[in-house]
Amino acid sequence: MTSTHSRYHEVYARWKSDPEGFWADAAREIDWVKPADKVFDPKAGPHGQWFIGALCNTCYNAVDRHVPTRGAQAAIIYDSPVTGTKRTISYAELQDEVATLAAVLQDMGVQRGDRVVLYMPMIPEATFGMLACARIGAIHSVVFGGFAPKELATRIDDARPKAILSASCGIEGSRVVAYKPLLDEAISLSRAKPDSCLIFQRPQLESSLVEGRDRDWKEEVAKARAAARKAGCVPVAATDPLYVLYTSGTTGRPKGVVRDNGGHMVALKWTMGNFFGVDPGEVFWAASDVGWVVGHSYIVYGPLLHGCTAILYEGKPVGTPDAGAYWRVIAEHGVVTLFTAPTAFRAIKKEDPNANLLKGYDLSCFRALFLAGERADPDTVQWAERILKVPVIDHWWQTETGWPVAGNALGLGALPVKYGSPTVAMPGYVLEVLDEGGKPVAPNTMGSIVIRLPLPPGCLPTLWHADERFKEAYLDPYPGYYNTSDAGYLDEDGYIWVMGRTDDIINVAGHRLSTGGMEEVLASHPAVAECAVIGVKDALKGEVPCGFVVLKSGVTQSSEEVESELVALVREKIGPVAAFKLAITVGRLPKTRSGKILRGTMKKIADGDVWSMPATIDDPVILEEIGEVLKGRGLAG
Ligand code: COA
Ligand code: AMP
Repeated sequence: MTSTHSRYHEVYARWKSDPEGFWADAAREIDWVKPADKVFDPKAGPHGQWFIGALCNTCYNAVDRHVPTRGAQAAIIYDSPVTGTKRTISYAELQDEVATLAAVLQDMGVQRGDRVVLYMPMIPEATFGMLACARIGAIHSVVFGGFAPKELATRIDDARPKAILSASCGIEGSRVVAYKPLLDEAISLSRAKPDSCLIFQRPQLESSLVEGRDRDWKEEVAKARAAARKAGCVPVAATDPLYVLYTSGTTGRPKGVVRDNGGHMVALKWTMGNFFGVDPGEVFWAASDVGWVVGHSYIVYGPLLHGCTAILYEGKPVGTPDAGAYWRVIAEHGVVTLFTAPTAFRAIKKEDPNANLLKGYDLSCFRALFLAGERADPDTVQWAERILKVPVIDHWWQTETGWPVAGNALGLGALPVKYGSPTVAMPGYVLEVLDEGGKPVAPNTMGSIVIRLPLPPGCLPTLWHADERFKEAYLDPYPGYYNTSDAGYLDEDGYIWVMGRTDDIINVAGHRLSTGGMEEVLASHPAVAECAVIGVKDALKGEVPCGFVVLKSGVTQSSEEVESELVALVREKIGPVAAFKLAITVGRLPKTRSGKILRGTMKKIADGDVWSMPATIDDPVILEEIGEVLKGRGLAG
């Protein structure tokens, strides 16, 4: 199965025959302060590093270098239906905003290598903050606004930031979420206190500032501007971290994914033209959040490195005000490419199954829809194709990789689509599927999906201050490979089929969450003896968490009361993003004879899938009990 029009096979073969030459060519698209002495050093870091010896600045490449040629072009269009605000920021204005904010950060004592945590809603200042850090060589760590203070505190303790950037509030649909009290609580919970915080006061909710610690964003920027203070771009090593982005691990302790400067720029710039098929000057929209990797790579860095106009959308696919919101944004701003999670399209399809709201919008500019973040179910892909009449491209990647591992590279000419598969490995990646013993399996056989080392530029060099954890999690399971923790198979045409995770991660509305982390919260409730959290199928969010709890003997509270306390506890400790709404009390949990909880079988029962009695089960009756309880809750098929 090959397409005569696609250059994919030729480009992939070119990469495979000379990976370093391929990436050295791609690196010519970047302005370097000093070019690399060595394209790749397999001995640097835990598994090699790219562009050794090079000096560069990511903010320079994303902003300053475009100013002479596209200074008046929109760099960012902020479109916020939740506040009724729109703002277009040209490349020249972006340079001014970022350089001024970077000077403020320097006044706050932030220097090259210091960490700066951002806990921000989807406002332009969030992108200014990220770029300002990049400008002065500071390392940003953006924490998604839907996480609770305890989660934020964990990240603060790991990153030990010099400063924190935040805002008074976020806006979720019609709900104003006060961010500042959450930040204050997180700082009081954390051991690593920042020296200072810069707070952007939004008109929807002003918050009080802590004397001696907090500064008013607008006032500080105004002062710096009045004094004409701007920070220049500080050259950093290509291998220096640009950011740390925390992502769910198998326990409650998140993993600090490190992204370097040089390899990241080279890889993202390559993807914009070759993968997404977008030209400089065109309008690119990733409907995600700056708190996720999609937001880092494709709201901020990718489009700006490529000289595109990036859309920053503060709203939802539905309800702000309706399921036509995406069509309005595309038509109004001339978006050529939209990237979002399948769940957003499921939400639109649910509200407006016949896409009536599409009528009246001129989408002639629109060329392609890209979906990632969770498995793209064929129904949703085909529905989107039908209503939009453009290619709908499923692609698969992870926070760790920073850019697509597999997909259908539109810029190289698309290959034939197989619904349910994100197509083929991108240049940079050799995918294999291994059995439990680490042996390659035959085509169409399920196993663990691994990437042959070395990883290409842009992928994580390590975890923040945790080389050993990095090796244990990703390199040790299958020597010579990076373990993706995804399960699936390769078919006879080399198409990859990603079917689910091999660890305790679940994907809720495209958000990556740890069931282990939720179990830690449930277990902390005084009435709970033991618990298990699984992800169960959900028509909108793909999966939602479901917690089974066994109460301690002698507990006098009713199970209903404990269950609602558990729901509230997960929201309080992890945050609303966990979408934990289902706690179910059971008499006992099904286990193997060695005491391992049979989460996989419970999931199959809850999803109404075919399941077989595990040979190692301790007491088969328990699974029947679980099935009955689930049926009572409207689950189990
Ligand atoms: N700050 C504070 N709270 C937040 C938040 C933020 N930045 N983001 C989400 N939340 C809250 C939501 O308001 C919701 O709260 P609720 O339980 O009180 O309703 C909760 O966290 C769960 O959020 P979510 O799972 O996103 O559900 P939703 O009902 O708000 O929206 C979708 C569902 C499908 C519309 C939404 O998830 C979506 O647009 N997803 C696609 C785009 C995307 O985000 N992709 C990410 C990876 S590419
Ligand atoms: P995140 O790190 O939040 O981007 O989540 C990465 C995980 O989401 C992957 O390891 C997969 O489990 C899942 N995922 C992302 N994209 C896809 C896709 N296109 N198909 C199937 N699963 C996906």
